[in-house]
Amino acid sequence: MKKLRSQEWFGRQDRDGFLYRSWMKNQGWPHDLFQGRPVIGICNTWSELTPCNAHFREIAEWVKRGVWEAGGFPLEFPVMSLGEVLLRPTAMLFRNLASMDVEESIRGYPLDGVVLLMGCDKTTPSLLMGAASCDLPTIGLSGGPMLSGKFHGRELGSGTGVWQMCEQVSSGKMKLEEFFEAESCMHRSKGHCMTMGTASTMASMVEALGMSLPGNAAIPAVDARRHTLAHMTGRRIVKMVEEDLRMSQIITRDAFENAIRTNAAIGGSTNAVIHLIALAGRIGVHLALQDWDRLGSEMPCLVDLQPSGTHLMEDFFYAGGVPAVLRELGEAGALHRGALTVNGHSVWENVAEAPCWNREVIHSFADPFKPNAGIAVLQGNLAPDGAVIKLSAASPHLLQHRGRAVVFESIEDFHGRINDESLDIDESCVMVLKNCGPRGYPGMAEVGNMALPPKLLRKGVTDMVRISDARMSGTAYGTVVLHACPEAAAGGPLALVKTNDTIALDVPNRSLCLDVDDATLASRRAQWKPPALPDRGWIRLYVEHVLQANLGADLDFLVGGSGAPVARDTH
Ligand code: FES
Repeated sequence: MKKLRSQEWFGRQDRDGFLYRSWMKNQGWPHDLFQGRPVIGICNTWSELTPCNAHFREIAEWVKRGVWEAGGFPLEFPVMSLGEVLLRPTAMLFRNLASMDVEESIRGYPLDGVVLLMGCDKTTPSLLMGAASCDLPTIGLSGGPMLSGKFHGRELGSGTGVWQMCEQVSSGKMKLEEFFEAESCMHRSKGHCMTMGTASTMASMVEALGMSLPGNAAIPAVDARRHTLAHMTGRRIVKMVEEDLRMSQIITRDAFENAIRTNAAIGGSTNAVIHLIALAGRIGVHLALQDWDRLGSEMPCLVDLQPSGTHLMEDFFYAGGVPAVLRELGEAGALHRGALTVNGHSVWENVAEAPCWNREVIHSFADPFKPNAGIAVLQGNLAPDGAVIKLSAASPHLLQHRGRAVVFESIEDFHGRINDESLDIDESCVMVLKNCGPRGYPGMAEVGNMALPPKLLRKGVTDMVRISDARMSGTAYGTVVLHACPEAAAGGPLALVKTNDTIALDVPNRSLCLDVDDATLASRRAQWKPPALPDRGWIRLYVEHVLQANLGADLDFLVGGSGAPVARDTH
């Protein structure tokens, strides 16, 4: 085994070695722990403000069992925890900040290998991105989804159920008291959202990328096998250090292509597009927005889970989880079978015999849940650098649609007018929301799935074309065009749209066009003014340096990595 990085701290026989060991000994560690054991950092996003990760101190204890057993020295450390629900204005504003915390913590401390504890939406990409920029031996472990929500005898999915019930309240089909009663029925155990929202999508991406042990994505948080997986993860990371198996050997171009196809097959979140492009940028793999269309848009959706379908993550686990999906992809020739995973085996070695126990939940490739259901990338004069739409969650009859724009200049403008019965809008209109992109919100909030006007919901309208530079929750659904680039606040054409303009959406031909002549657009552009910069602090740094969504919305100076060289001494 090559010399351990941690020995640059703990193996020193001088004044600085005294300093590095002596203060650690106040925790009671025996001296021999500092004599050549691989030091394993357990990067923990535990926080009571991140309810999806509130059980992570417990999971860390099971990881430690495995690390001890394999001869390592586990040391748990906290990083910024991004709670999707509570953190305003949006957790995405802080994804890159958290990734910097992770990167500098890993590089600055005496670590030889890292276990990433991830759960709530942004905690997964931020940890992967920060760790990728260091490129030590690293293994991912997700906290697991919650048990299925149950309400009035039926399943109630995280997020998706909220959007559905809100529509029912708006249309008068549900009483407000019933709506509030559902609060404690939706989220009734530890774990993250149990729909195929962004958390479950990203946990599946971790598994498809080969960054976790098989089975990581779907084991419920409360299932004893989640603890077993944590224990096995602890054992494995010590071996990875001994083998010097680094992140850059796992998340290769082939691994990203596997992840893109898996995302289509599971009906995964559009947020994965941004996160995986940003992650690829950190590890030196070129991944373009168009890769998502080329590799994924014509893939079938195999998994019948909310929001694209009806079931929940607990059902997905019992049906076979991600390994069963990967086996389907592999047998259909849609998987790079040789991609290496963290257990030292190829992805195909891991899943070739994976069983499927329920074809209602995980369909076969030959008889998919939905055909051609991945993420499509649109281009045109309304989004020259691209926009995305999740086909599995859209209404087929709206995929080719021409309509009159009804424009909202901001999310406040939308909230202020959408309930107005006199709003001039019908179901053929195209709802447009501006200034919700990375710079505009700032942070690119999940507001793209604008609620429909109550007067149309009462008429029985269930979907309309919606376009914005925002993201949407992975739990949301509808014919929603997202991530329009460049965003309005960066002077993209979206900034120039006015109410009553005509917009043409043509998903089969991948186009998104504003039917306004060039001269008119030029005169509107002459009058457009960029928004003022925030005064100070992180938001100022973010707005000045954030890349557009098609490039992963990372900060320009964070793209790439710096490895994990040992810096000069502290004294
Ligand atoms: Fe944390 Fe959904 S709010 S995963």
